[in-house]
Amino acid sequence: MSAPKIRATKLDRPILIVTCPRGWEAEARQELRRLLPGATVQSLYIGGNILAQLTVPVEEALGAIREAETVVLAHITPVTMRMQIGGERAWLDTMREAAALHLAPPDPDRTFMVAVHRRGHHEFGSEDVILAVADAFIHGGKPSVDLTNPEQVLSVEIYQDVVFMGMNDARELVCKELKRMRCWAPGERPVSRAELKLREAIEELELELPEGGRALDLGAAPGGWSRELAGRMAEVVAVDPADLDERVSGLPNVTHLRCRTEQLDPEEIGRFDVLTNDMNLDPERSAKLMCELSRLLRPGGLAVMTIKFVTRHRRRHVAEATSVLERCYEEMRVSHMPHNAKETTAVMRRRPAVSGLPDG
Ligand SMILES: C[S@@+](CC[C@H](N)C(=O)[O-])C[C@H]1O[C@@H](n2cnc3c(N)ncnc32)[C@H](O)[C@@H]1O
Repeated sequence: MSAPKIRATKLDRPILIVTCPRGWEAEARQELRRLLPGATVQSLYIGGNILAQLTVPVEEALGAIREAETVVLAHITPVTMRMQIGGERAWLDTMREAAALHLAPPDPDRTFMVAVHRRGHHEFGSEDVILAVADAFIHGGKPSVDLTNPEQVLSVEIYQDVVFMGMNDARELVCKELKRMRCWAPGERPVSRAELKLREAIEELELELPEGGRALDLGAAPGGWSRELAGRMAEVVAVDPADLDERVSGLPNVTHLRCRTEQLDPEEIGRFDVLTNDMNLDPERSAKLMCELSRLLRPGGLAVMTIKFVTRHRRRHVAEATSVLERCYEEMRVSHMPHNAKETTAVMRRRPAVSGLPDG
């Protein structure tokens, strides 16, 4: 395969690529929005990576982030070019050509290195990208390469078929200290990030959980949702083949059924007032299980399910899941909560009569 045609653009507005611990993207987006008013901030498809499109000069944005107390922001890398690539080795030549065409060349009298972060599957490795891209700028040994303490860094951030590049002064790159564990007062640390998703759905959507009722929690481990439910209701049955955190398994009103949802015997577990589902499953499959189990839920009973974006076709996943759920549930509300990362939350009530299902 010869080198494919360049599909690269120099960005109109500068972009920062910001990393954070996986699962902390909502907090990272909030921190960035606070520090960079007017910036467009969005998570990338690959967890722990965020794009901030700036309305102010890069130096100003980096200064604001550098000076601020932050909790979950890690590395901040300015980029000025974006391109589409494929996974074949021939794209190495195209990346070199695009870098030569769209990036300001490094100062030949200052040291230089190429830093590559590659996510996804390619026929080439990061070392191949470093050699290919550096080749665009190193002529006659200038600028000289320094891999430990360079003065200039060409940053290459690869997300499967999208590449961002930026030529940066090493002094400008920002690396923040992570303080995420200090977010929580002793004893207040959530069992999982998921715990916050259910809590915010309950609070923001004003969901009423009957105090004396029973909840069935599918995909419960490590137990954030079960703990939240156990604090508000009389009994929780938590279903998951994985272990529950001991802060949850030790609760007197939580019973852990260590199996997959598909293995449940509906005759054995009784009826419920609330059904929740945070299983890591294809949304359509997950919605079908919600329907199969809807007869365990009392008519009008509350159900909450996260629709997982298992591919980038988010709208399709929501449409497929809701069209299945609508057979058994009504009053459906689908909301993207601040703590939803690659998913969205659907809240609904069991229909009084569910066609094709015996009523409990
Ligand atoms: C995102 S985690 C759930 C987090 C949980 N809600 C919490 O608050 O800690 C997804 C869970 O779904 C479980 N899971 C995936 N497929 C499942 C299935 N078919 N039946 C039951 N659990 C399943 C996984 O074992 C995993 O523990």
